[in-house]
Amino acid sequence: MTEVFRDGLLTGKTAFVAGGSSGINLGVAQRLAEAGAKVAIISRSADKVAAAVASITDAGGTAWGTACDVRDYAAVDAALAATVERFGPIDVVVSGAAGNFLAPVVGMSANAFKTVIDIDLLGTFNVLRASFAHLAKPGASLISITAPQGERPQMFQAHACAAKAGINMMTKCLAMEWGPAGVRVNAVSPGPIGDTEGMARLAPTPEMEKTIKGRIALRGYGTKRDIADMVLFLASPAAGYVTGAIIDCDGGSVLGDAGGDALTVRAR
Ligand code: COA
Ligand code: NAP
Repeated sequence: MTEVFRDGLLTGKTAFVAGGSSGINLGVAQRLAEAGAKVAIISRSADKVAAAVASITDAGGTAWGTACDVRDYAAVDAALAATVERFGPIDVVVSGAAGNFLAPVVGMSANAFKTVIDIDLLGTFNVLRASFAHLAKPGASLISITAPQGERPQMFQAHACAAKAGINMMTKCLAMEWGPAGVRVNAVSPGPIGDTEGMARLAPTPEMEKTIKGRIALRGYGTKRDIADMVLFLASPAAGYVTGAIIDCDGGSVLGDAGGDALTVRAR
């Protein structure tokens, strides 16, 4: 363990995790709490938020949460203000709320497309835009959870591809606008992560799962901990000169199909 990943790395810091009540983002919230941060969690379901908060406090961490839809700017702003009231100015913001499903464009209504854009892209705008007034500046770190779809087109994912590509570009624009205030803005792009709602939806059968795993350079799915550690890095002083970066944490997924056994192919 390096010096920067020592215990208590985020002691005294405040973190806000949007969409932090399950899956990858819950793993992130738990990791930030493990590193000593006081963590606020929001998502739509009050029951899921309560369970996520309990998972942290039961483990000895400090957490609080409230039900909030990232599509509602005023509600997001109120949740951020309540976090500052309770824990102090916010050092780390994670924007990870998302919705997704497999659907061809002709199989989705305009409202289906808009729903994913609203949750992922507008929701991330709302979380980041509203957070600015509540940040501990200089020094705050904002981290969005994007996906390989933001860079690489994928069948039946036009909605998610458009939304995540928008998040990637917004990350870079905000890094330029807010860098002078000492605010870093980055994104983490997870590849397929095991035991998540996302992969249950995108690879619902064992055959699809096997095919996807066989095409990833590092073979197999990643873990929630892989993503949580990358977010912790970006939240930490170790990433103090990193901004506007879209960091792939994906086993090589975004590179394309690495299927087959390249080592057995002889050069001519
Ligand atoms: N294929 C095509 N259209 C779909 C769809 C699917 N599988 N699932 C939902 N839709 C459409 C709905 O029919 C509706 O369009 P319509 O009004 O024209 O009929 C539109 O999407 C909105 O659906 P609704 O259920 O009202 O939205 P919501 O805001 O309650 O939920 C979702 C958002 C649809 C994204 C829902 O799946 C969700 O809450 N997901 C969160 C969890 C998740 O996706 N996790 C993985 C993250 S990667
Ligand atoms: P998940 O468990 O479904 O996480 C999504 C979270 O967002 C939930 O906590 C959900 O809680 C919340 N949410 C959804 N809509 C919301 C809204 N309108 N307002 C507020 N919160 C909302 O899925 P996951 O697979 O772990 O995905 C987490 C993130 O990782 C997403 O950004 C996803 O795009 C990204 N990602 C996942 C994978 C993967 O392999 N799973 C790969 C690449 C990227 P509520 O239902 O309570 O609202």
